Amino acid sequence: MTRVLIDCDPGIDDALALALAASRLEIVGITTVGGNVDLSLTTANALALREFLDLGDVPVTPGAAGALMRKTVRAPHVHGDTGLGDVVLPPAVRPASQGHAADFIIETLAASPGEITLIAIGPLTNVALAVLREPRVVEWAKQLIIMGGSFTRGNHNPAAEFNILADPEAASIVFDAGWQVHMMGLDVTLTALVTSEVLDRMRGLGRLSDLLVPAAQYYGVISADGGPAIHDAVAVAYALDPTLVTSVPARVDVETKGAYTSGMTVTDFRVSQGNAQVATVLDVKRFWDLVIGAYEELARRLG
Ligand code: RIB
Ligand code: CA
Repeated sequence: MTRVLIDCDPGIDDALALALAASRLEIVGITTVGGNVDLSLTTANALALREFLDLGDVPVTPGAAGALMRKTVRAPHVHGDTGLGDVVLPPAVRPASQGHAADFIIETLAASPGEITLIAIGPLTNVALAVLREPRVVEWAKQLIIMGGSFTRGNHNPAAEFNILADPEAASIVFDAGWQVHMMGLDVTLTALVTSEVLDRMRGLGRLSDLLVPAAQYYGVISADGGPAIHDAVAVAYALDPTLVTSVPARVDVETKGAYTSGMTVTDFRVSQGNAQVATVLDVKRFWDLVIGAYEELARRLG
């Protein structure tokens, strides 16, 4: 089973991504970062999700509350004041781990070089701090997969995707660290829509449906041919089956100075070998078949 460390900012789509990971991946750790909502809330949500998803003693370690150099950007208008919309999970009983997420990332990757896939589905501040503290993490990670960026458009503004916009300097450090960044950007995640047909497939899954259905309904208007995009789940699905996407090598530079373009992932497909494998197309039918199949398996475990 693929071993993963997930850095996240739950976050509705983070929660759906964690449920997908809980089904078919070995989660060796969860680290949290300030992003959609404040760090205290992303961490509380991760702790509650750990227990709701029966993840046992998987460590949850908080990290950076904000960006390396920028004022805070949050998205409560998208994820609600708590970060999980109107979903109320039983509050966690067990606390977060001591220490900082960046050190947890370093220590976990160092202990199992080449074995653990790092999946980052929030602002990249913790990953950047890990790289700055210990550059060898780029060698120790089996792979780095991010939900972030775009080669076509933004979402939080015309040019930038939220995770990159929230900390452009961190993203620039991560893209220039020396590893291949497997970038699941808006170009593919905006096709992973919870339509009414998909939502119906999330029903009848026991208590898992108590998370999936209201979370998806809060995240956006759902119809027969449209709905909210569960961005982060695409990054986890890629870890499960990279053939779900078509990826193209590119050079990605993160704009950190533009008055209107800060946080933009400037993607150059002219290069044959760059710093990123950029997802360009998602096989949407196979994506949902994998996601729903994994949710069904998890639901049988959770009851
Ligand atoms: O732009 C989408 C990303 O921003 C997702 O990770 C979502 O959770 C938000 O953090
Ligand atoms: Ca996220």
